[in-house]
Amino acid sequence: MTADSHKLWGGRFAAPTAHALDALNRSIGTDFRLWPFDVQLSQAWASALAEAGVLTEEERDQIRGGLDAVAEKIVSGAKPEESDEDVHTMIDRMLHTEIGAPASRLHTGRSRNDQVATATRMWTMDAATRIDAVIRDLQHVILDHAEQLRTTLIPAYTHMQRAQPVSAAHWILSHFWQLERDRARVANAAASASSLPLGSGAIAGCAFAIPRDQIRIELGFSTLSQNSIDATGDRDFVADMLYASTMLGVHLSRLSEDLILYGSSEFGFVTFGDTFTTGSSMMPQKRNPDALEIARGSAGRMLGNLTSILATIKSLPSGYNKDLQDDKRPLFDSVDTMLLVLPAVAGTLAELRFNAKRMRAALSSTMMATDLADYLVSKGVSFREAHGVVGTLVRNSETTGVDMNQIPFTVYAAAHSSFEKDVFDWLSADASVARRNVTGGTGPEAVDEQIAAAHAALGNTVRKLQLIP
Ligand code: ARG
Repeated sequence: MTADSHKLWGGRFAAPTAHALDALNRSIGTDFRLWPFDVQLSQAWASALAEAGVLTEEERDQIRGGLDAVAEKIVSGAKPEESDEDVHTMIDRMLHTEIGAPASRLHTGRSRNDQVATATRMWTMDAATRIDAVIRDLQHVILDHAEQLRTTLIPAYTHMQRAQPVSAAHWILSHFWQLERDRARVANAAASASSLPLGSGAIAGCAFAIPRDQIRIELGFSTLSQNSIDATGDRDFVADMLYASTMLGVHLSRLSEDLILYGSSEFGFVTFGDTFTTGSSMMPQKRNPDALEIARGSAGRMLGNLTSILATIKSLPSGYNKDLQDDKRPLFDSVDTMLLVLPAVAGTLAELRFNAKRMRAALSSTMMATDLADYLVSKGVSFREAHGVVGTLVRNSETTGVDMNQIPFTVYAAAHSSFEKDVFDWLSADASVARRNVTGGTGPEAVDEQIAAAHAALGNTVRKLQLIP
């Protein structure tokens, strides 16, 4: 320990900390970014201490003003020093430089345990707002495409086999609703973070009569923690945020997978643009959807981050333990990743082109087999019998290589006496789609209602991205 190094503890030690422990214990490399929140919560704490009679009003104002000056210095580039153990130590050191003696009174009745929990919660609430905004940007792009794709038909797949025709808008909106649930999960994580730990001290609560509710209001928390042991050791909100990001990552991965497949030459349903694809150093013809592949890959790392925090919390004894210092690495990594991935996925989508001809060409009349069975049901046949009859006709089409809508009527008539000439109307993809106007279905009216519901879900939010015309 050098003469001018700044430490928040040390009196009871006869020898300096080993270099190897310092190196391991130092968290400033990770937690430096908490500084705006540490400054804010320290200002609120100074006011609370003044209310409790621990600080004079003059000392409170000196501390609050000094913290503003610290913030300005950091904004203009002040960096942590070698000896700063963590962001709390750094700000304390800088405050001492700024205002001298009164700074020594700030750390009364609080601990870095309730301090770091408070700062990390504030960071998480702020991150939730930022993630929500970028999810909405992507949802807007999806919705724009949906509006243009209302009457375009595309095969829907189950087991990755052609299943039934749907409106392409219906397909792309399926990804909208996943993201809508993700926004709810992110909001839930923010709500989980919104309980104020400050005032819990190290574990037993603050011994001075500080007005916790005043701090809560100044810092924008919705509730006060009710138990200081729980409050200092609770990282549920980190797990909640990591779960929300993991689900979001999983959804972006599924969206990406659809698009990567549909963008392959084999499918050719979509074409990627220039600004969100990359080339190959060897193969001149290549255009690679990197943003989508990175999005798909990132989901794995986010799942690892979720696993990491759950494993850390799992066997932790009550209260704060230093294991918890490692809550921030996975938290920051997952949030950073989402904030990078979402705009790139949204940008990729904004310049995507849909090839309606290729999509329609992928529809075959066999995909209307269910409609054919429904047709027989409408003539009074049981669905079970109808399913068997249509199955035979499909086999016939498969072995002869003649499409269902090209098979002569005599074959239908021989398969079941209820078939009439109008059977061929039921083999049209448009008719198949048009019949499905149940809420949540792919019929045109249902899709229009769905588009309206999607607009309502987004509300009057400001949007950043437009489709590239
Ligand atoms: N840097 C620590 C963390 O991130 C906060 C300090 C708590 N340290 C302590 N000795 N109680 O969790």
